[in-house]
Order: sequence, then structure tokens, then C-alpha cells
Amino acid sequence: MSAARPLLTLPLAALLSCAGAPSTSDAGPPDSGPPDSGSSQPPGFADGVALFEAPDLDPAPGSLEVNLTAKVAAVKVNGLTVNRWTYDGHLPGPTLRATVGDRVLVHFKNELPEATTIHWHGVKVPADMDGSEATQAPIPPGGTFDYRFTVTEAGLFWYHPHLDSSTQIGSGLYGAIEVVDPAELALGDPVVLVLSDESTTDAGVLLPGDESGWFGDYFGREGNTLLVNGRVRPTLKARAGLPQRWKLLNASRARFYQLKIPGAQVQRIGGDVGLLAAPQPGNGVILTPGERAELWVNPAAPGTAASVQWLDSDRFHLGAKLPAQDLFVLETVDAPALGGRPAPPAALRTIAPLDVADAGTRRLELMEKAQNGIGVLGINGLTYDESKATPIMVRLGDTEVWEVANTTGYDHSFHLHGYAFQPLDVAGQPWPVREWKDTVLVPAKQSLHLAVRFDDRPGMWMLHCHIIDHVTLGMMAMLHVMP
Ligand code: C2O
Ligand code: CU
Repeated sequence: MSAARPLLTLPLAALLSCAGAPSTSDAGPPDSGPPDSGSSQPPGFADGVALFEAPDLDPAPGSLEVNLTAKVAAVKVNGLTVNRWTYDGHLPGPTLRATVGDRVLVHFKNELPEATTIHWHGVKVPADMDGSEATQAPIPPGGTFDYRFTVTEAGLFWYHPHLDSSTQIGSGLYGAIEVVDPAELALGDPVVLVLSDESTTDAGVLLPGDESGWFGDYFGREGNTLLVNGRVRPTLKARAGLPQRWKLLNASRARFYQLKIPGAQVQRIGGDVGLLAAPQPGNGVILTPGERAELWVNPAAPGTAASVQWLDSDRFHLGAKLPAQDLFVLETVDAPALGGRPAPPAALRTIAPLDVADAGTRRLELMEKAQNGIGVLGINGLTYDESKATPIMVRLGDTEVWEVANTTGYDHSFHLHGYAFQPLDVAGQPWPVREWKDTVLVPAKQSLHLAVRFDDRPGMWMLHCHIIDHVTLGMMAMLHVMP
């Protein structure tokens, strides 16, 4: 009996000490079952959260060419077949999967009952491909547009309309863009997870995008149904000790997601635009609308089915939190027969700090004010309508340090089109890691500093709160990067 104990505990000990050790999958003992039974995720582990991938019309390497049609279509959500606004009948829209350096061509057709555009959130597209009203006329019903750009960086990005956004995103128009770099560290089996919510009746019928009027805009419309890749509480399978790399996107209009991942070691390894410089603590990560995070998740407890939960991050600073809600089930089937895989190394990639020695400074105040007896939102004293004739002007090639100051009593999600930035500090605390972001939480009554370089692609861009209902109330401005 006692002689058997070391043999039984050996795989677990190997698993617990696996950090830094190479995978033993090629060297497993011959009597441990099928050759790789324990060295890979369970068969079909991600089938429960599978996303439809846009077929590539141009099979040549170096390019991705897809058709994309926005249309009303019946989809199955939570067991009910219901109409949603979709890209190609899928919820979320088809995932665009590309490799760094690929030229992307999207033949877009609008079959919606109203005009739309597509914005490629986080992708460094030319200004005239950005899909905002600053650079593109709305595509009318029946209209078409070819979007062309090159993906230059690895990461999880996304696409969504930039017109009547609360209604259009809230009705189902969003999809993921996964750009991979074969030279990047592998860091676990990748899974793209699109988090969204929707507001429906009990019969699953969507509520109107302007439901609750001003209150909906001001507080932000949080849906009553939480979706993960378009499904209610799906299951993702894992094998204990074999890490997965979750690429998470918050595609909700207003909901913040604080994630609780029980029974697993979790490190944050990526942000909005690819890998961080170094891994960070990952459980409890908060994703504001539009943000992405990549998590290294090592399920440690074999044989358990744990719910990954949404926690209330108290974005109104009320001091009281709503109850947790289940997002999806993480079913950890068994321990690996052949040992685990290494933990992320201390350095994930080199990110040079932007040189801010000669940088100009600028303050952007996210604020609210009364206008004709109602509360409106704005930037530097002006609503979007008041400010768009006089955009913020910066010079191509300049580096600037921005103070983004939130003078309201609740959190906002600050998004800049066209350029990724390096957060420097928030609420007086240095940013914990060097990373590239395009969307960031600015807490109530606090300031965030960021460094940004307008290195390329002059033109008109947008900056706004990504609580998309706040755009309706005016929290958006135009930025002119002058050649
Ligand atoms: Cu994802 Cu202007 O936004
Ligand atoms: Cu906001």
C-alpha cells in the first residue's frame, strides 16, 4: 500500500512542479494508454463555445477575403429561435481569423432596415477604412462597401457598427477578429470567448435599442441575458494541468465583467493588443465594454465542474454589489497522464516604452453637465454635437501624454480609434505592466495618464466612452491627426 503511494502521487507532483519544465508528451511511458491521451485537451473541448469562422475566399497565404452581410436573421438563443441583427446570420458574427501581415478584404453588404458602417476596433486601419462617421458616409440599406486593410499586430480585435451603436451592437452586431503570430509564445490552447448581453422579453424578443430612454442612456443598458459566444451558460472542457489561453472580448453595450474563475491558476498574459510585457495576476480581471484580455488558465482541480462567474464591479460606486451570475461551465475532465505544461515565462515579449521626454501634454475631461434641463455627457465641456466642428488637433509623428480625467461619479471606458496607447498610471498608482491598449477603465473621480504616438495614418479619428449608450448622450470627440 505504502509502496504504491509514490506512484500515484507522481503525476500530481509533476503537475505541480511543471513550471519551466518542457512538456513530456513525446517521452511518455509506453504503458500510460494511447500515446497522447493526457497531453492534449479533451476531444472537442471547445465545441460548446465554437464560433463560426468566416470562410476565406482567397486561399492564397498572406490574405483573407470574406463576404459579410448585415441582416436580420433568426438565430437560436437560450433555446428560443428569435430574430436578431446579425452578420451572416451568426451571433456573434463570423470570426475573422488572420495571420500578422495578412491583407484583409471584406465585401460588406447592408441588408438591415437602416444605414450602418463597420468599425474595426483596435485594428490599425487607414482612416478612410475606420467606419466612423468622421471618414465614411453611412452605408444605406441595400448598399455595399469593400473594407481593405492589413493586420499588423497579433491580438484579439473586433468589429461592430459605428452608427446608432446602442441599437445595432445591442441587437447582435459584433464579431471577433483573431490575429495570430506564429512566432509568438504558444502559452496554452487558444479559445476565443466573446462576452455580451442582451435585453429581451421572456419570449426572447429583443427590447428596442432606445428602451428606457434617457435612463437607459445614462445608466447604460445592461441586458438581462448573459451570452458567451452567443450561448447561455455553455460548457468549455479542460484537462487539469493543461493550460488554456482564453482570449476574452467584452462586446456588451454597458456591462463591465469582473471574472471569477474558480479551481484554476489564472494569469493575465495579454491585453487589448497582444501579449503583455510580463504576466500579471489574472483572477478578478475587469473588462469594460470594448476591452480584451488574454488569460492563461490552468485548471488545477480535476473532476470538477466549476462555473466561471460574472461579478459586479460596482461601476456606480454604490458600495453594494449585485449577486454573481454564471457565465459558463469549466468542466475539468481529469488529470493529465503525461504531465502538464510550463507556466508563462517571466517575460512574454519586449515592449519598448514610448519616449515621452519631449511629449506634449493634453487633458481630456470625461464630464457631465445639464443641457435644457437634462443631463448630458461630454468631453472637455462639450457634447459630441457641440465639438465635432472643432476636432482635437494633433500632429502626425508626435508623441503626447494625455491625462484622461473622469469628473463624474461613475466609471467610464475610454476608447481611442486608430492608435494604441501605453497606460502610465491610474488614480495615482503606476500601471502595473507595460502593455498596448485601445480601451481602458477610467474610474469615477480619478485620472489616468497614457502615452500615445501618432506614428502613421493621418486623418480623422474618434475617441469616446465605450459604454456605448454614453455616446448617445454626447461622450465622444473627433481627433484630427494632421499630416
Ligand atoms: Cu469599438 Cu468607436 O468603437
Ligand atoms: Cu461612459
